[in-house]
Amino acid sequence: MKPLICGNWKMHKDVYEATSLVKGLLVELPSEVYRRIEVAVAPSYVCLYPVHLIVEDTPIFLAAQNVYYEKEGAYTGEVSIGMLKSVGCSYCIVGHSERRKLFGETDTAVNLKIKALLDGGIAPILCVGETLEEREAGKTLDVVGHQVFEALKGVKISSAKDIVVAYEPVWAIGTGRVAHPEQAQEVHAFIRNILKDLFGDLANDIKILYGGSVKPDNIKGLMRERDINGALVGGASLKVRDFSEIVINALEVI
Ligand code: 13P
Repeated sequence: MKPLICGNWKMHKDVYEATSLVKGLLVELPSEVYRRIEVAVAPSYVCLYPVHLIVEDTPIFLAAQNVYYEKEGAYTGEVSIGMLKSVGCSYCIVGHSERRKLFGETDTAVNLKIKALLDGGIAPILCVGETLEEREAGKTLDVVGHQVFEALKGVKISSAKDIVVAYEPVWAIGTGRVAHPEQAQEVHAFIRNILKDLFGDLANDIKILYGGSVKPDNIKGLMRERDINGALVGGASLKVRDFSEIVINALEVI
């Protein structure tokens, strides 16, 4: 399968900065990259359309950071799947730990969003991951397993191939403390097995990304692992040079 490296810009970059960042990536990334790696960026909602205008005829994919599952209606402040499609989104991040922790996003909401996205033709990037306390209490696999099961309840086998899962240990996000490749691989293999239980052999085609302090100097070790099929990159995706180096370094080991 083709790995995916997606930059999650979180609440960074206004329209001018976002468009200049993506233009920089288009200059910096050699065209042969895209044959072997999918590259995506996830700007804030207000930057999606301006960034779309720049990437629409290029191989860079556009991702949203969140969505609401209802089609339309009186939901002040929310954005629908149709709206995301109208600005060219191919992917949408769902259930990021920041949303779960700071904005009270529940497993139930994550599940509704995933099913609605799959029905609407946008590939969800489902984020799961344990906190430091949970890891230290030996609960990593329980927590991650629960999050994956709850998020994918009722998902049809026919849409399984469009799902992307991102394992993002909360203790590794924005801390500079990346998971060791073997530590991440253990959880990725566990997630793959759950996906096999749910979807059979199709699980082998589902991308499982790693996220949490991914940098140019640690991407190779991660990408060498069997069940790591790409990365969700936060801080290092905000600089043209760092993000490009991550993609180019990944290319060397896949
Ligand atoms: P950092 O790469 O800044 O640790 O963020 C990871 C992340 O949360 C990506 O979604």
